[in-house]
Amino acid sequence: MSNDSKSIGILTAGGDCQGLNAAIRGVAKAAINQYDMEVIGFLDGFRGLAENRYERLAGDSLSGILTLGGTILGTSRDKPHKMSVGDKVVDTIAQAEANYHKLHLDALVCIGGGTQKNAVRLLKKTNMKIITLPKTIDNDVWGTDDCFGYDTAVEIATEAIDRLHSTASSHHRVMVVEVMGHNTGWLTAASGLAGGADVIVIPEIPYDINVIKKSLISRNRKSKRFSIVAVAEGARPKDDSEIPTDFEDSAAVHLTHRLAELTGLETRLTSLGHVMRGGTPSAADRILATKLGTKAVTRFPYL
Ligand code: F6P
Repeated sequence: MSNDSKSIGILTAGGDCQGLNAAIRGVAKAAINQYDMEVIGFLDGFRGLAENRYERLAGDSLSGILTLGGTILGTSRDKPHKMSVGDKVVDTIAQAEANYHKLHLDALVCIGGGTQKNAVRLLKKTNMKIITLPKTIDNDVWGTDDCFGYDTAVEIATEAIDRLHSTASSHHRVMVVEVMGHNTGWLTAASGLAGGADVIVIPEIPYDINVIKKSLISRNRKSKRFSIVAVAEGARPKDDSEIPTDFEDSAAVHLTHRLAELTGLETRLTSLGHVMRGGTPSAADRILATKLGTKAVTRFPYL
């Protein structure tokens, strides 16, 4: 490494998803192999940046991670301007900037979804050079077609719906499947379509419980004695009286009870939850994350 070689930092923040390690590897390999840079990985998102916890990324730490789920750097939902420290909430932006300069970084790559907003905050309030890479299973980062993590999560949810078909059909049941996605319905719409769900409920289109009820009863009368209902975690009813009164009930829990009550059909709920974010990334996510990671370095004007 020459004396004038540059240094780049990298962190993963927000919820994890598949492809994070592929992106870290893409950034680091391009930086090291193409530009002879030093690469610093901050641990646990913006918290590691504020607390100056990091590891140098090279050789062994980058080997064998392309196919790994999660993030080798760890992540957190901590925000630089609002971080809990003991029983206080502290603005750590100045600390983050001081650590960046102490390590003589030329840029910081922030990989995240909602993290984009926090990265922009750092860009506006400091002299740090920031590059962001969009990731999320929810596929809801503005200006993107697909974020890495999304393709794998769609595959997982689709496989779950496929598997629910056989048990639903054997028991002649209505199977409600709750799919993650925060306030958006991308994951539910895609996996519901791919898995052939009979009803798909997404936040963008508030649902009418009577329409769903009628459709389930009509299927049952036509000797289709089972149904699959894919429900986004952020789904909401048209009618306010259908909003769960128990604040601990999710939309899917409430809908499951109501559909059982209204149709008289045996109904079960499967909540996919964090399973959707786990395990090895699909080929498409590995490729997208690697391309983005590489471009973050090769296309960045400051480096
Ligand atoms: O943003 C990704 C996501 O998995 C959403 O789909 C979900 O609403 C949320 O994160 C869950 O957050 P946590 O992992 O903090 O429980």
